[in-house]
Amino acid sequence: MDKNSFTDTILVTGTAGFIGSAFARKWVGHESATLVSLDALTYAGHLSTLLPVISHEKHVFVQGDICDQTKVTELLNKYRPKAVLNFAAESHVDRSILGPETFIQTNVVGTMRLLECVRAYWNGLNEDAQRDFRYLQVSTDEVYGTLTPTDPPFTESTPYAPNSPYAASKAAADHLVRAWHETYGIPVVSTHCGNNYGPYQFPEKLIPLMITQALAGGDLPIYGDGMQVRDWIYVDDHVAGIAAVLKKGTVGERYNIGGFGETHNLNVVHTLCNTLDELQPRKDGLSYKTQIKFVKDRPGHDRRYAISPEKTTRDLGWKPLETFDSGLKKTIAWYLANGEWVSKVKDKGFKDWLEAQYAQRVAGQA
Ligand code: NAD
Ligand code: DAU
Repeated sequence: MDKNSFTDTILVTGTAGFIGSAFARKWVGHESATLVSLDALTYAGHLSTLLPVISHEKHVFVQGDICDQTKVTELLNKYRPKAVLNFAAESHVDRSILGPETFIQTNVVGTMRLLECVRAYWNGLNEDAQRDFRYLQVSTDEVYGTLTPTDPPFTESTPYAPNSPYAASKAAADHLVRAWHETYGIPVVSTHCGNNYGPYQFPEKLIPLMITQALAGGDLPIYGDGMQVRDWIYVDDHVAGIAAVLKKGTVGERYNIGGFGETHNLNVVHTLCNTLDELQPRKDGLSYKTQIKFVKDRPGHDRRYAISPEKTTRDLGWKPLETFDSGLKKTIAWYLANGEWVSKVKDKGFKDWLEAQYAQRVAGQA
């Protein structure tokens, strides 16, 4: 093999988390390229999440931090990937409000270090390999800020206006990715997606939190008036979009990925309770809705996200397959069947998190 070329391998970070693992499950077994996983296994990363693919012959798992340039360089030189996809991040807005520093470390410093390792590796590739190599950054619609009820959805040219420490850290990472392309010529593509839901999502986020709290007989905490709007997408649709951008996206461009799933939080929780009432009714015959508690709002809470995936659909032929109703049903069924996974991932200090996060919010009426 030409030592200045790459192999049929991709390096993917953050694969023991929710979306990275969905990407790995979709990739391994369907694509010829071997997938090398790099994940630090933080509180949000679990090998049980990667279990379906962990011992597949086309998958290699490495525990490590994207900030560790020695390790990343070693992996790049050993496996010589044709692409690097960066899913690794601190991803929960509420955690970024209570403690922003790790968000800056992983999302900003980590992305910069990864880009530096990629730059050194890419500089050593021959011309053809340099042209065909891709660095893909997984970003979010939160970098675009918040919308009023009548604003049009975010497009790829919506100006950045991040409002939470999490969103600001992701925006900073996006700017680094852009600069490494403009200044050093690294062939990058970026994706921006709305709120994901589906199997294997850590139960701190709205949908899995509400399912697991409902089943455990706990409170269903709604921030503020519950009228904040999010644009929901089933995770498998998101990772299909990422694969399309990787294969067909134009270098230097960003692509929005959305599921046409705009709805307010209270509706999400009501729909979820109605489905649970049908699938696993409470023993006392009451609806899970009686567990709803309105609590103090999130500081700086973005009122509405809506994302237009028009460019991605038009240019790459991708479109979401699930509706919010069909995806939510699948998700609830998955959580009902996978209580063991939920207990396992809650091991890493989840109870402490619930106390730190929710005890300070004054409970209001149901
Ligand atoms: P997650 O929190 O479920 O998983 C993050 C993963 O990254 C974990 O496995 C964790 O161990 C790993 N990780 C964290 N710090 C690391 C480090 N320093 N080095 C290596 N690994 C590290 O997150 P997710 O919801 O799967 O999100 C994945 C990506 O998608 C993130 O970049 C996020 O910003 C982006 N995104 C998420 C959503 C969403 O709705 N969840 C929407 C749009 C974009
Ligand atoms: O839009 C994409 C983003 O979606 C991703 O970049 C983030 O990584 C991901 O976490 C998600 O961010 P949100 O803050 O929108 O997701 P979260 O599930 O935390 O909250 C969804 C909405 O529900 C939000 O308006 C806050 C509200 N909420 C959340 C929790 C955890 C509640 O009302 N109660 C809760 O207990």
